[in-house]
Amino acid sequence: MKHKIAVLVSVLFMVLTMTACGSGEPASAPSVADKDKAAVQEKLNKTESKSETTAVKADENSAESEAVTEAVTDTADTKTEPETDGTNILVAYFSRADENYNVGTIDKGNTQIVAEFIASEVGADSFHIETVTPYPADYDECCDVAKQEQADKARPEIQGGVENMEQYDIVFLGYPIWWGDIPMAVYTFMDTYDLSDKVVIPFNTHEGSGESGTYSAIANYIPDAQVLDGMPIQGKTAQEFNSDTQQSVREWLDGLGF
Ligand SMILES: Cc1cc2nc3c(=O)[nH]c(=O)nc-3n(C[C@H](O)[C@H](O)[C@H](O)COP(=O)(O)O)c2cc1C
Repeated sequence: MKHKIAVLVSVLFMVLTMTACGSGEPASAPSVADKDKAAVQEKLNKTESKSETTAVKADENSAESEAVTEAVTDTADTKTEPETDGTNILVAYFSRADENYNVGTIDKGNTQIVAEFIASEVGADSFHIETVTPYPADYDECCDVAKQEQADKARPEIQGGVENMEQYDIVFLGYPIWWGDIPMAVYTFMDTYDLSDKVVIPFNTHEGSGESGTYSAIANYIPDAQVLDGMPIQGKTAQEFNSDTQQSVREWLDGLGF
């Protein structure tokens, strides 16, 4: 009974906070704090300074052997490619296709559409956080499973894994809001990988709850990471992902210095 009331209250909240059905709410780029931009720049410059160090070492070794110097310098040259070549950036996201609120039955999840765009814009690698046991395709059934997992503080097992997490300095972390929080599988992801000292940039989709306090929840959950303010987008808007929304995401990335 209690559970049914919770479902009704949440659905009512979503209905009240949503815009009229039909088209998604236009996405606008959130303003970026100077400190957030500085955090990103520091990580991007870190890649550059690693390359500089390699180049300096190559110079120091130059007396030893010209042939070796040339080889090392070549490597250093390769590493001084543009700072934003994306090799130290990962886009990790949870997203579910099938039947969902306000969009019907979809082939690709709302968050995944945004995640793919971000990855292609910054040239990052991607990791789709998927549970070993898939969620029901039916929306109501999925809501029930997700609610129970939340109540149980479950950590559903995720498929596969990220190779060489150490190589990433910046991790975009995408997810839908589920019952006012992050899907439990995203907690599994944060438990699995050491994100200390990385810049974590959240983004999320939702149907009325915005970011629902999840950016600070993530910051509290992984206090050794630098968690920035992210970008919330309505799920239906993300599903349509028209040129205006793409432009807003691009402006947000520009604001962060990508
Ligand atoms: C289990 C479940 C719970 C949800 N809870 C909320 C919620 O509390 N607030 C909200 O705004 N949207 C909620 N939604 C809507 C999703 O956040 C929204 O549809 C999102 O765009 C889905 O992203 P995805 O397609 O990438 O999975 C919920 C959806 C599901 C399936």
